[in-house]
Amino acid sequence: MIRLVNVCLCLVALAVGAAAGPYGSISFAQSNNRAAIAKDTTKPTDDPWWKHAVIYEIYPRSFQDSNGDGIGDLNGITQRLDYLQSLGVDALWLSPIYPSPQVDFGYDISDYENIDPQYGTLADFDRLVAEAKKRNIRIIMDMVMNHTSDKHPWFIESASSKSNPKRDWYVWRDGKAGGTPPNNPPNNWISIFGHSAWQYDPKTSQYYYHRFYIQQPDLNWRNPAVERAMFGSVRFWLDRGVAGFRLDAIPTLFEDPQLRDAEELEGTNAYGDRRQKDDRYENLPEVHDVMRRLRAMTDKYPGDRVLIGETYLPNIQELDKWYGGAKHDELELPMDMQVGFSNRLDANLLRQRINDAETKINGNQPLFVFDNHDNIRSWDRYGDGVHNDAIARILATILFTSRSTAMMYYGEEIGMVTTPPTRKEEVKDPIGITGWPREKGRDGERTPMQWDNSKNAGFSMADSTWLPVAANYETKNVKAEESNPDSLLNWHKQLITMRRNDPALRHGNMIMLDETNPSVLSYIRSDVAGHHSILVALNCTAQQQTVTLDPGRAGVHGAKVSTLLTDAPSLNQQSSLTITLPPYASWVGSLQ
Ligand code: NOJ
Repeated sequence: MIRLVNVCLCLVALAVGAAAGPYGSISFAQSNNRAAIAKDTTKPTDDPWWKHAVIYEIYPRSFQDSNGDGIGDLNGITQRLDYLQSLGVDALWLSPIYPSPQVDFGYDISDYENIDPQYGTLADFDRLVAEAKKRNIRIIMDMVMNHTSDKHPWFIESASSKSNPKRDWYVWRDGKAGGTPPNNPPNNWISIFGHSAWQYDPKTSQYYYHRFYIQQPDLNWRNPAVERAMFGSVRFWLDRGVAGFRLDAIPTLFEDPQLRDAEELEGTNAYGDRRQKDDRYENLPEVHDVMRRLRAMTDKYPGDRVLIGETYLPNIQELDKWYGGAKHDELELPMDMQVGFSNRLDANLLRQRINDAETKINGNQPLFVFDNHDNIRSWDRYGDGVHNDAIARILATILFTSRSTAMMYYGEEIGMVTTPPTRKEEVKDPIGITGWPREKGRDGERTPMQWDNSKNAGFSMADSTWLPVAANYETKNVKAEESNPDSLLNWHKQLITMRRNDPALRHGNMIMLDETNPSVLSYIRSDVAGHHSILVALNCTAQQQTVTLDPGRAGVHGAKVSTLLTDAPSLNQQSSLTITLPPYASWVGSLQ
């Protein structure tokens, strides 16, 4: 998380923890000239839409409430499509909206082929897909294949007796010989959400395995019936017109078949459990066969459907495997968590990790992400408390001017802050109760979207909302930022517009410049015949820095420099390759 990330990080050893330019004057109506959603063809295309996409994650409970119950819903999202179009997003990833007891706010699914009444109906969903399509926006579902809710009919059957035909759909085992239930789990594995990963069931005198909450029993992917059933649900949504899936917790599908104990490590986690290596239950090689079959199936659908992976992995080599390496036959876009969750505004570290994504994934398409519903917002992770706005502009510049597909999280564009609960009694996310006070849960990054300065920030007409609206909503909200040309929101819009329209940003390669500079991250996007190159320089420090960029390093020979976008007024008229950047300044220029 730094929570989920930390949980994963400790195991995978990842590091630690407007001024208007020329694009500012282009009105969005003019710039929004994308071709209509790619024509359906039966073969994947060479230049699929997702390579250039801005994918926007919506946490539906918190985006827009349309019926006054204090919880966001599908019709609320439909109401806000014009805003999303004006921002320039190409696809929405909706975190789970299926029927669910909501223990893990939707990641505990009790029916994979319906909509939770809290969020609406299948008809509302179809309307959202159709209205989004009119605005050239695609819908991506969240598919949770590792586990179901314990209220899913499959688990209810499975738990009913040892001889039930669905018994083997989940991971059931006897306790360790010589011990006494419920204190003799089959092994020492711990749940990512704290304490033993095994839950004793007195009715059948066995334990079931759960990597996440007790109410989220893991499916047994060694049973082919599980794959058949899950792929059936994937087809259900593909047939309904979704553009693809974000695959939840996908490295956790398989466990060591012998259920051998995990190796213990030094120290304890936020829940007081002894830390352990996760190689008995995370990222087992068997998962790649499933990914290949899933890819083969989705490739049969027209329209370049996309598979995105929630892939917290130890290094870039592991990430490459999720693409299928040079064969490119697994996920189109496993998430790169190395760049966005490096959690340090460190030019050397960012350069090295971006370079890794450029050079070590067999030419596959990177997917960078700085924010999601499981982690303290990047505003707080990277911010120094003084220059947060400028730092947020740096992160956005990396996200939208690199070659990566861009994934963002609602509110990131206006600089929403993490607002954790201050008292245990207020906590909604169960890990915040188990882990209090070391782990306060994920409520802080899930607070309602801040639309304007009216009641509940325009999110809901209810007297109280499921999570409180962040205190700063009166000044930090979409409406206020829309009317301020220097706002973070307008910075995002300008970058996204530039990314869509500029050939060098769309198709150019990406080469780092001034590669040993510890303070300034700079790079060039070039190699599009007959077009200018794009230069980027980002000062990652609180001190003024002067850099001399040498595009010759990238084989580019131009002399005419001009500013496209910067937040430093002193750089508005920049015309030379020697650039003096004020603290935390961002500069994007053109070279001809
Ligand atoms: C990852 C999801 O992003 C997180 O919110 C959820 O709690 C776990 N997977 C379990 O599904």
